Amino acid sequence: MKAIEIRNKYLNYFKKHGHTIIPSAPLIPENDPSVLFTTAGMQPLVPYLLGQKHPAGTRLTDYQKCVRTNDIDEVGDNRHLTYFEMLGNWSLGDYFKEESIAMSYEFLTKELGIPNEKLSVTCFAGDEDCAKDTVAYECWKKAGIPDERIYFYGKEDNWWIAGEEGPCGPDTEMFYDTGKPACSENCQPSCDCGKYVEIWNNVFMEFYKDSKGNYTKLKQQNVDTGLGLERMTMLLEGKETPYEIELFAPVMEKLEKLQKVDNIQSRRIVAEHLRSSMMIINDGGRPSNVDRGYILRRLLRRMTRHLNKLEINLDLLPEIIDVSIDSLKELYPELEKNKATIISVIEEEKNKFMRTLKNGEKEFEKVVNKAKMQGKDTLDTQVVFNLYETYGFPPEMTVELAKEQGIKVDMENFDKLFKEHQDKSRLGSDQKFKGGLASTGEKETKYHTATHLLNAALKVVLGEHVHQKGSNITEERLRFDFSHNSKLTEEEKKKVEDLVNEYIKMDIPVEKLEMKKDEALKKGAEAMFLDKYGDVVTVYKIGDVSIELCGGPHVNRTSELGHFKIKKEEASSAGVRRIKAILE
Ligand code: SER
Repeated sequence: MKAIEIRNKYLNYFKKHGHTIIPSAPLIPENDPSVLFTTAGMQPLVPYLLGQKHPAGTRLTDYQKCVRTNDIDEVGDNRHLTYFEMLGNWSLGDYFKEESIAMSYEFLTKELGIPNEKLSVTCFAGDEDCAKDTVAYECWKKAGIPDERIYFYGKEDNWWIAGEEGPCGPDTEMFYDTGKPACSENCQPSCDCGKYVEIWNNVFMEFYKDSKGNYTKLKQQNVDTGLGLERMTMLLEGKETPYEIELFAPVMEKLEKLQKVDNIQSRRIVAEHLRSSMMIINDGGRPSNVDRGYILRRLLRRMTRHLNKLEINLDLLPEIIDVSIDSLKELYPELEKNKATIISVIEEEKNKFMRTLKNGEKEFEKVVNKAKMQGKDTLDTQVVFNLYETYGFPPEMTVELAKEQGIKVDMENFDKLFKEHQDKSRLGSDQKFKGGLASTGEKETKYHTATHLLNAALKVVLGEHVHQKGSNITEERLRFDFSHNSKLTEEEKKKVEDLVNEYIKMDIPVEKLEMKKDEALKKGAEAMFLDKYGDVVTVYKIGDVSIELCGGPHVNRTSELGHFKIKKEEASSAGVRRIKAILE
């Protein structure tokens, strides 16, 4: 069954069962600096899972475009994809476990024709936060899944949350038995051997996990389900990998025809990264050196490198794009419409990268000759690192080329140097959020300090769940995005304003401290992108009011700020509010 048929069957089935079909949200979340890409269908729906009324009702279904980038380096094997489509259905305080499981079972067996014997399911085993899910178990039994194909696992396998904080709950997962022999006596769905493939995940979202790790019940019981389209297509078409289904097969064949050197991993990487890049570009993404743009750049550069590896003439890239769009346009007609833009963005990035490679290659020749003249047979780490940092020359390329010249490369410390470099450049991108524009005039400096006071006051008035999600400062105002789910009342706004003004009047000294990251965290310092800072961090402490990891600059005492006033409070994105405020 083709992907488009599965998608249509899915949406129609849930429509028939009272769900409204809603459009896919864009891959790039609007106004939300806290996440790079949309990674799951529930992400754009968070406010509604928390209780806000959705205009389309309490039963929704959609297909959602998703990008997950944790595993870029795994792409090329037989299963990892960075872009994928997720089919989903939601109950926003409407039906719960019983109806959800009954519908999933009916859809899998009746609509898709999967025999009962092919299905195994898993349920939550229970722990101190939530009881064993005997309800889900009973529902599966009632549907016709026998005991020996129902498994119970703990939070690692049967609990779903996006990130660290947010709506979450126990889930029940459905697995397809590929018919491969069991890898051991103990082979079961949680096993990685490939016998069982996860096909659908129904999350029973009735909890909220806060930043301290506490679980509380949500106002309503929700269901969030996700079914990966490529994987289901692969199974129903009896294929071993997603690269053999109709969304990838034509481009894989084209690459095979054009290649001078055979390499299946490289063909997969090109096909996969090309599709992800096109989808990101189509939703407005452009290559750059930070954040989302950097991910897109990495995808395109890795793709180009593997085209080189296959020794495919890069001038043929538009032809390859044509083939890929042809096989995707039934699912995404917008790709065909935006083809010209897609081709021009990819071509431009490819040309930039080729120049980088050319310069890097020249420099590489130089350092190799120098090493040879000095009678060395090894390039040291710093040399490899300089090639990377100054010329953008990928280290694996250095290793490869050096090998061809009979020279070894000392990569032992490369990871360490690389990490330090990453920390530095990430800090740069954090400051974009934390400090807005890197301008340090007197007024901006005041707004920086006012931002810390505002963050602290919001925590006091609204609660500890408030965290910074974005910040932008100009000479005229501060703009602060923070996690909170509802509009602030007039009273709350007034309280926040009064509290900040009180802090200002208290004339508290602002101290700049340097300390180990662990120590800062122990002291309860607020940090927006924790894992992105280096080991030693700068912390600004304002008496007992606030302590935050920050690059500054700040005033010396709070009394320098004048009078603080909130001008506007509005929604910024899902679960995030935005305040604009001035100092008078
Ligand atoms: N949110 C769950 C997932 O991404 C189900 O949709 O797997």
